[in-house]
Amino acid sequence: MKKKCALLLLVLVAASKLGFAQQNTIAINSAAAKVTISKNIYGHFAEHLGHCIYDGFYVGDTSKIPNTNGVRNDIIDALKKLKIPNLRWPGGCFADTYHWKDGIGPKDKRPAMVNKWWGGVTEDNSFGTHDFLNMCELLGAEPYLSGNVGSGTVQELADWVQYTNFKGKSPMSDLRTQNGRTEPWKVKLWGIGNEAWGCGGNMKPEYYADEYRKYATFISDWENSGGLLRIASGASDADYNWTETLMKNIPLNMLGGVAMHHYSVLDWNKKGPAIEFSEEQYFGIMKQALLMDELVTKHAAVMDKYDPAKKIALVVDEWGGWYDVEKGTNPGFLYQQNTIRDAMIAGVTLNIFNNHADRVRIANLAQCVNVLQAVILTNKEKMILTPTYHVMEMYNVHQNATLLPLTVTGNDYTFNGQKLPAVSASASKDSTGAIHISLVNIDPAHAQKIDVNIGDEKVKTVAAKVLTSKKLQDYNSFTEPDKIKPVVFKDLALNKNILSITVPPTAVIVVTLK
Ligand code: AHR
Repeated sequence: MKKKCALLLLVLVAASKLGFAQQNTIAINSAAAKVTISKNIYGHFAEHLGHCIYDGFYVGDTSKIPNTNGVRNDIIDALKKLKIPNLRWPGGCFADTYHWKDGIGPKDKRPAMVNKWWGGVTEDNSFGTHDFLNMCELLGAEPYLSGNVGSGTVQELADWVQYTNFKGKSPMSDLRTQNGRTEPWKVKLWGIGNEAWGCGGNMKPEYYADEYRKYATFISDWENSGGLLRIASGASDADYNWTETLMKNIPLNMLGGVAMHHYSVLDWNKKGPAIEFSEEQYFGIMKQALLMDELVTKHAAVMDKYDPAKKIALVVDEWGGWYDVEKGTNPGFLYQQNTIRDAMIAGVTLNIFNNHADRVRIANLAQCVNVLQAVILTNKEKMILTPTYHVMEMYNVHQNATLLPLTVTGNDYTFNGQKLPAVSASASKDSTGAIHISLVNIDPAHAQKIDVNIGDEKVKTVAAKVLTSKKLQDYNSFTEPDKIKPVVFKDLALNKNILSITVPPTAVIVVTLK
């Protein structure tokens, strides 16, 4: 008997090592559906950092690269395809050094500035308020402006709001008209500083709460019928005291959102490579990415104490993987490649945001072009889409759809005796009645067989797309731009109310049920 058991165990271990699928179950509870997944969870971030703006988005209108008012057409097309809902600008740390009046008027008259935080480079301010807001109009994206609290003034930020939003006659709207724009842009999303606990001024939370109240008093609504959404500079990672202090000290009617930043980083002093990483480093980054669930849950619980009606949004306006810069690039430019590991970060993080859509209503991946976990990389006239881009595009079906709550009972991905859940999932139903289920298997060695119970949903057709690659370290390069891209996925079947699917190792799948 003992021998038989040992043999069975041996066979099971061998089978799992060979990559045979492991069994998992997911139960969708449509009856509990009540929350809309805000499209703004799928937002992006464009800072004046490295080649995100200059030689990224913006090449200038005399460039040979096809452009509209200096912004690359290929980037505009790619982001429109992504259905980019909002774009945060001009930072980040840069925002608290930025004086917006230096970036308006004739370009040759604009003063230069030194980018203190990012490489100490001199910028000519040729990309300013008009350039950004007009670009957002081209993209069909809501602009999210980060105001300068650290080194600016209340008047300066109040003027910026009047400049962008006031329709009638006023000093700032006159200036706007003089600079070529009559109609206001009606900017709704306003960040009151950034990382006030750090690069935004090294403030204590009590002090920042008072500063916020003062700024919020003068950042008033001019034209926006729905009102401005004022977003407080939020906590880093697990600093729950920061969130608690803001919630306690700022009147709720002055607050639209509270931010939070979390990067998937191994160690700030030893981040590890973006491409040639080990499985140990992969596991560490997945642990960091999955930590987002705990962070969001706990920050939301603090907010619930003061705002049980969930009026105030939790705004995760910086997230993503952060590694060492690529060899030979400026360390201050944060340029890194993007592998299937980044696709895993994106997949699990977006599932977490979807599943917390009752409180997380805005989020911004850091960053959009050529910086950190970028969706787009450029090299002169060439542009490539990263694996992260493809995940964001596959997942855009969840934008403004109704969240279908689900529970996952599944296997672990085990490395060196440590465990993480292998499978992550979220589901939603869109306005046409189509159901989308996004599934991620972070295990690099084992496929996961999943039985999804869709309950009483009536479905006629099933289709799916998968994003995966042979090696964890695979990436899209300028010589092989389509190495990783979504393809049709067939290894699935619907039998009554059970969808059976086998998710390959390190894969993201989006299933459509109609
Ligand atoms: O995204 C890069 C930087 O990370 C941002 O400027 C800052 O807000 C954060 O520390």
